[in-house]
Amino acid sequence: MATFQLSDLAGIDRYKLLTGLIVPRPIGWIGTVGSAGVRNLAPYSFFNCVSATPPTVVVGTGHRAGSPKDTLSNLRDTGVFTVSIVTEGVVEAMNATSGEFPPEVDEFTEAGLTAVTGTTVSAPYVGEAKAALECEVNQIVPLGDPPTSWLVIGDVRTIHVDDDLLDGTRIDPARLEAIGRFAGAGYCTTTDGLFTLERPG
Ligand SMILES: Cc1cc2nc3c(=O)[nH]c(=O)nc-3n(C[C@H](O)[C@H](O)[C@H](O)COP(=O)(O)O)c2cc1C
Repeated sequence: MATFQLSDLAGIDRYKLLTGLIVPRPIGWIGTVGSAGVRNLAPYSFFNCVSATPPTVVVGTGHRAGSPKDTLSNLRDTGVFTVSIVTEGVVEAMNATSGEFPPEVDEFTEAGLTAVTGTTVSAPYVGEAKAALECEVNQIVPLGDPPTSWLVIGDVRTIHVDDDLLDGTRIDPARLEAIGRFAGAGYCTTTDGLFTLERPG
């Protein structure tokens, strides 16, 4: 078995090992709006729900050529964001919004998506998504010295879900058709191979 000391590795190799092993990752499709009023949308797979009470999600964003990505700039400016759930029907559009567009470009328009303003926060979510969360920034934690990534901790305030997916508050995973991310260009669907495992009493 090979052993790697992370401090000895080039950044690209750390990235390949971690994103190849921590799989599949959910994709947070993060909607924000900048201080100039321009909407922004981008996918982040350093993303997860880490607590239900309090309802908490996290997003990890790297930098681009030494500058923060538009999502992070907007989060710092406005303190609010949405997370649209990436499902089979919107996966191409999700990929389109990962393009490195300048801050003045609205990725909703660029990808032909409907922007719906949140009911609790002023950030937009994807109208074509089957579900979306509205969130407020709780903390932005710099990672590294000097920082090269930022961990955004968000409080979930509101959840929108298509009625078709719901049985009370239970989500039908087969109808959700969520997408997971592997390393690089690798993705998976979550409907084939779905199984259940009851926990020990
Ligand atoms: C599926 C997918 C997941 C991604 N996950 C991340 C991530 O977790 N962190 C990150 O910094 N960039 C990630 N990216 C790259 C960003 O989406 C990309 O840099 C984008 O241009 C950022 O947009 P923004 O500047 O509007 O925030 C991901 C791209 C794809 C396609």
